[in-house]
Amino acid sequence: MRLDVVTIFPGYFDALELSLLGKAKQRGLIDVHVHDLRDHAHDKHRTVDDTPAGGGAGMVMKPEPWGEALDGVLAESEAEPLIIFPSPAGEVFTQRMARELAEEPHLVFGCGRYEGIDQRVFDEYAARGRVRLVSIGDYILNGGEVATIAMVEAIARLVPGVVGNPESLVEESHEDGLLEYPSYTKPASWRSHDVPPVLLSGNHAAIAAWREEQSIERTRRVRPELLSREQRGESRARHAAE
Ligand SMILES: C[S@@+](CC[C@H](N)C(=O)[O-])C[C@H]1O[C@@H](n2cnc3c(N)ncnc32)[C@H](O)[C@@H]1O
Repeated sequence: MRLDVVTIFPGYFDALELSLLGKAKQRGLIDVHVHDLRDHAHDKHRTVDDTPAGGGAGMVMKPEPWGEALDGVLAESEAEPLIIFPSPAGEVFTQRMARELAEEPHLVFGCGRYEGIDQRVFDEYAARGRVRLVSIGDYILNGGEVATIAMVEAIARLVPGVVGNPESLVEESHEDGLLEYPSYTKPASWRSHDVPPVLLSGNHAAIAAWREEQSIERTRRVRPELLSREQRGESRARHAAE
């Protein structure tokens, strides 16, 4: 998978050299190219922002550097890339979206700063290809870099070969619409907190049943909106019976 990132802070993406993603890069599973937007600003101060049309607080990213940077990335692309602009005004990023995006051969991320990017940049590339504005949650970051790193990590770990044991990707929160059950390791007792006896029983059916129950209960407590109507009913009935 090829990933291009356009940003005024290329240093943020040094984090992609670490851990599993760093290894995936070394093994050629993901091919990351980071571009400095300021290389496409040609005045003395390499200016990428200007005051908002119509007035108001803050600054807006100018369209010309974005146009030059993205045209350069598109000219190098063999497949038709999907351009993602992280934005709190976009559709919300989910595990389902991560799975969908992990199938793409080429993703381009355009990291906004200040009050965001001039709308005409989105309009231009949406008219010429595929563009999505994507939010990582209902809060405001200073820029798109951290949002891009979060999305790249969630997407790239689903690329075959990036995570050693593919089974570990299946039993995770959000994969089946539920939050994951609690996990334990050795020792069996730590500071008077014990591993639940069922996990030490060796009874695989009982362990699977306990984990499913814990998953549903945790989801009901923390994120009830994720449960189906049947699961909500089942979980309430079990709760009432206890
Ligand atoms: C300070 S924010 C601009 C917010 C914009 N004025 C608004 O209200 O929608 C600057 C940049 O940070 C990024 N950003 C901020 N919050 C984000 C979020 N929740 N998800 C994705 N990107 C975000 C976007 O790239 C955005 O262009």
